[in-house]
Amino acid sequence: MPLDRKPAPNDLRAFWMPFTANRQFKSAPRMLTEAQDMHYTAADGRQILDGTAGLWCCNAGHCRPKITEAVQSQIGVLDYAPAFQMGHPLAFELANRIVDIAPEGMEHVFYCNSGSEAVDTALKIALAYHRARGDSARTRLIGRERGYHGVGFGGISVGGIVNNRRHFGTLLAGVDHLPHTHLPENRMTRGQPEHGAHLADELERLVALHGAETIAAVIVEPMAGSTGVLMPPKGYLQKLRELTRKHGILLIFDEVITGFGRLGSPFAAQHFGVVPDMITCAKGLTNGVIPMGAVLTSAAIHDAFMQGPEHIIELFHGYTYSGNPVSCAAAIATLDTYAEEGLLTRASELEHHWQEAIHSLADHPHVVDIRNMGLIGAVELAPIEGQPGKRAFDIFVKAFEAGILIRVTGDIIAMSPPLIISKDQIDELIGTLGDVLKNAA
Ligand SMILES: Cc1ncc(COP(=O)(O)O)c(C=O)c1O
Repeated sequence: MPLDRKPAPNDLRAFWMPFTANRQFKSAPRMLTEAQDMHYTAADGRQILDGTAGLWCCNAGHCRPKITEAVQSQIGVLDYAPAFQMGHPLAFELANRIVDIAPEGMEHVFYCNSGSEAVDTALKIALAYHRARGDSARTRLIGRERGYHGVGFGGISVGGIVNNRRHFGTLLAGVDHLPHTHLPENRMTRGQPEHGAHLADELERLVALHGAETIAAVIVEPMAGSTGVLMPPKGYLQKLRELTRKHGILLIFDEVITGFGRLGSPFAAQHFGVVPDMITCAKGLTNGVIPMGAVLTSAAIHDAFMQGPEHIIELFHGYTYSGNPVSCAAAIATLDTYAEEGLLTRASELEHHWQEAIHSLADHPHVVDIRNMGLIGAVELAPIEGQPGKRAFDIFVKAFEAGILIRVTGDIIAMSPPLIISKDQIDELIGTLGDVLKNAA
């Protein structure tokens, strides 16, 4: 039952908002009060078409009945069970359900509460795995420039977004980075770009510099989302897989955005035909409804820990809320909803329509690049001289006033609508953005 709409509060001081221009927001708040399917309702009652699946997470759209009911019912049956040395059935059921849709070879699931925790968990498993096998010199972690792996110290260390790193000291030691894959010759590419597979060879340079025997893992987003939607060049991920395997280095795909259907397959690993050693996921796992993340691992990684006396804990890691029963219920209902509505492959059905729509913006003012894949896309704008990010931010605000929710990072507009979007709604989203662009300064 919808709640009575609450009046917007008029004292906004106490809440320090994350990744937000707090002073700007509080001077002109953009409040959302309700949501259903493809739309948010703003505090003033306007319907806002969701072009970003919340924050890349509500893949089945909003307030979906099955998920809502599962959460409501579970919370009255088993609200919490200790995560350490105790179990409950839903956690086991969910792990099997995730493995069922995961790429071949991903056989175990470790739960956490967010993408950031999933990343830190995967990095820790990588380090501990090598140590468990007696290969304890492998302590280096390799990320990639412009990568986003959440905001934990592990994630910002392997991540490559400058503002997420520069304010926070020396970060983890022993981390290096591959170059990003955003090449000017790939401008206006539909789908995977042609140029840049050779950038994976940079791993050979890092191996030559540090010694393969010191490197534990490489972590990349198979398609980099938060940095502004950067596609992997054709052949790039395959090369990275070959090189990591050749040098005994684990490959981690951070699928916090690409997991659960964003590119038209359950995971990007399946979409690109490249299976890593670990996958991190979160967001779409519960349709964004309850915080939950997970790390999927190969049997080889899991089994390396299963040794020694049986009463000894094999991995000294976990969270109070790992596999929380209510999160598990939300995730199972989410996977049911995805399966019943064919959502994990729907992006591939809509991809052509999405692609043509978004590329229709190519000759709009200030547009310098457009890229797309599955149900994700980016429109990159030329910055206003001396004011990087201002043009896209102003467009984000104008777009909200015009009834659509988009996301901006620097001067890049990113869109990733819920996978239930209709073709008419794609046209509405892009048409409205086009009008906003035409009137932009
Ligand atoms: C690839 C990737 N990894 C990790 C994260 C962090 O997830 P969270 O915000 O749930 O900690 C994100 C969030 O956008 C992400 O896109």
